[in-house]
Amino acid sequence: MIKRPLRLRGSNIIRSMVKENSITLNDLIYPLFVIEGKNKKNPINSMPNIYQFSIDKLLFEIDELITLGINNTLLFGITENKDKVGSNSFDSNGIIQRATKEIKKRFPNFYVITDLCFCEYTDHGHCGIIKNNKIDNDLTLKYLQKQALSHVHSGSDLLAPSGMLDGMVKAVREVLDENQYYNIPIMSYSAKYASSFYGPFRDAVDSSPKFGDRKNYQMDPANSTEALKEVLIDIDEGADIVMVKPAMSYLDIIYKIKKEINIPLATYNVSGEYSMVKAAAEKGWIDENLVRNELLISFKRAGSDIIISYFTKDYAMDLKNI
Ligand code: PBG
Repeated sequence: MIKRPLRLRGSNIIRSMVKENSITLNDLIYPLFVIEGKNKKNPINSMPNIYQFSIDKLLFEIDELITLGINNTLLFGITENKDKVGSNSFDSNGIIQRATKEIKKRFPNFYVITDLCFCEYTDHGHCGIIKNNKIDNDLTLKYLQKQALSHVHSGSDLLAPSGMLDGMVKAVREVLDENQYYNIPIMSYSAKYASSFYGPFRDAVDSSPKFGDRKNYQMDPANSTEALKEVLIDIDEGADIVMVKPAMSYLDIIYKIKKEINIPLATYNVSGEYSMVKAAAEKGWIDENLVRNELLISFKRAGSDIIISYFTKDYAMDLKNI
């Protein structure tokens, strides 16, 4: 007798009935970039349809996102006020702090996740404080605590430390708890690889390292077991959500980690992955929406609960047939 899996593919109805995974707006997080100034909406060359917004324009954008059904953002600040220690990142009047305050004032229910890192704020472009041409891990943690506190003082709902430093989750959890912010969750960029897929993002936020690279702190793309080690350390230190980044070339890592943990797993569908799809679509080589949907579902299928993606707005518009 021929085995006939095709029976369950006979019509739209039966196909939907046996569908194992789907993507809703509840699964997606939308990154936004905020800059100094007024009335600015600067396109990012290498990321079609993604902009740097000044705070006033950002509020218009968020208004639009809310009508599309998007209820959150992962916010990145960009400043020209860069120095050795990234002071703008923990200044109560820094770009991210002002933006967060304004967003929460206008849209108290819009969920603001803030990226905790130094690369956008330091003049050398590295993710921490430099001593002898290398990041001083433990000294950076002290600054990270200042940054964390200033973010939650401004109204951030969730903190996402992305610097891949040892002890970063513990340091952030401790400072939050000492200051009675027991209920602010931490989403850690636990398994963040030293990836070339971040190229367009570094254009967007002007955060390329001025010397060297990030291989001293981000993970080697050749490694898999080590990703699990990083994730388990972060969970032990108090992470509420862990992350794998990038997504597309790391589905095996997502799959492996999901089997070992009992907290939500996020994955970051990074800038290079987004831009490749946009570029191929512009050339007419692929169907953008179909390829995008196939990518998003592959992250879900691999085991990701949450997907951070620049495609979120496009996806939401598509759902509404806009
Ligand atoms: C670092 C950070 C990076 C991204 C998010 N946070 C870049 C890096 O490590 O250079 C990359 C995001 C993307 O490529 O979309 N703060």
